[in-house]
This record gives sequence, structure tokens and C-alpha cells, in this order.
Amino acid sequence: MKIDILTLFPESFSPLKTSILARAEESGKLEINLVNIRDFSKDKHKKCDDYPFGGGAGMLMTVQPLFDAINSVYKENAKIIFPSPVGQTFSAKKAEQLSIAEHLIFVCGHYEGVDERIFELFDIEQISIGDYVLTGGELPSMVIIDSLARFVDGVISKESLESESFSNGLLEYPQYTRPQEFMGLSVPDVLVSGNHQEIDKWRKEESLKRTKKYRSDLLS
Ligand code: ADE
Repeated sequence: MKIDILTLFPESFSPLKTSILARAEESGKLEINLVNIRDFSKDKHKKCDDYPFGGGAGMLMTVQPLFDAINSVYKENAKIIFPSPVGQTFSAKKAEQLSIAEHLIFVCGHYEGVDERIFELFDIEQISIGDYVLTGGELPSMVIIDSLARFVDGVISKESLESESFSNGLLEYPQYTRPQEFMGLSVPDVLVSGNHQEIDKWRKEESLKRTKKYRSDLLS
């Protein structure tokens, strides 16, 4: 999968260049390309923002640099995403849907927003990561990319995806690793019993218990 990220702040994306996503890039499963929107500004001072017509607080991103930056990477079948509180709320289901795309383009807004005409010039899906407002689209882009990348074939094991929270509508069961005893607390006996049928049964029960306790809304 190819992901272009259009931003005024390419330096904010270092978290995508570490750990699991870095390995996914090295192995060619993912290609992440950062594009600085400012490089496309035709203003002599490379300005990319201006005051809103009609007045109001703050500055808006101007349409010309955005338009040219998108056109520089756009190819047929690319899907353009604009993180914004205006969109539908992101979920594991949405991450899985996006993970089968061949080419995604993330456009990061900043300041008070962007000139609305960009949404008439391109087919853009707006996606929110929750009902609160962030200073820009950089953090939500990283959240969405990190989450969808986990569903890209080969990035993490199928087994991990199947057992994790939300995969079956429930939260994941509790997990333990060595040492078997710490500060008087022992790992549940069943997990060291070697009985895989019993372990599966315990995990299903714990998943359900946890979901009831922390996220009963998922069960309704
Ligand atoms: N940009 C600013 N706030 C946002 C949010 N909650 N979700 C996605 N993008 C945003």
C-alpha cells in the first residue's frame, strides 16, 4: 500500500518511522511518502494561510497549495482522506476497510481549517477520531494510519489481529508473561496448565467479563 501524507509539518511524522511500521516499510508492505504542502505555494513568501472572508477567528489554509500538492501525488483510484471533526468517527471496522486500498492520500489541515472549495475540487472523505478538536490533522492521520496498517497483509500476524480488542465485538482478554509470580501475584493457573481447550474457554469468558465491566455499550 502506498500512503502519501500532505502536511505543513512533515517533521511531526517520525512516530510512523519506528517499530512495526518501520519494519513494514523496510519489507515493502507499506510505502509512506511525506509531502510538504508549503513547497507548492505560489506565494512569493511561500505563505499557505490567510484570513477568512467574512471575518472570524484565526487563519485558514489557502486552496492553491493544497490543490497543487494533491495533484502532484494523485493517481486514478487513490482515496483522499481529510481528518476532521466533521467526519464519521473512526473505528476498527473503518481501519480494516481502508487497509485494502492500494493508494491513500492523507491531507492534513492546520490552523482554523481549510478553504471549503478543496472539497468541491476532489472527492475527499473526512474522518474524525473523536468528538474533540485538535490543532491539526497530523495526529489524527498518524492514528488512522497506524491502525489501518495493522490490517495490511503481513504487517502483523493474523493470530494477533484475531484475538485483539474489537475483532469480535469484544475487548481482548487479560494477558501475562514471565515471571509467573511477582509481588505475591500469580498468573492464573489455567494459563500454565497446557490445556488449550481450557485456555480458550477462559479467554472467551474473560473477554466477555471485561467487556461487560468496561464497555457494556459494545454488548447492546
Ligand atoms: N482535526 C482536528 N480535530 C480532529 C478530530 N477530532 N478528528 C480528526 N481530525 C481532527
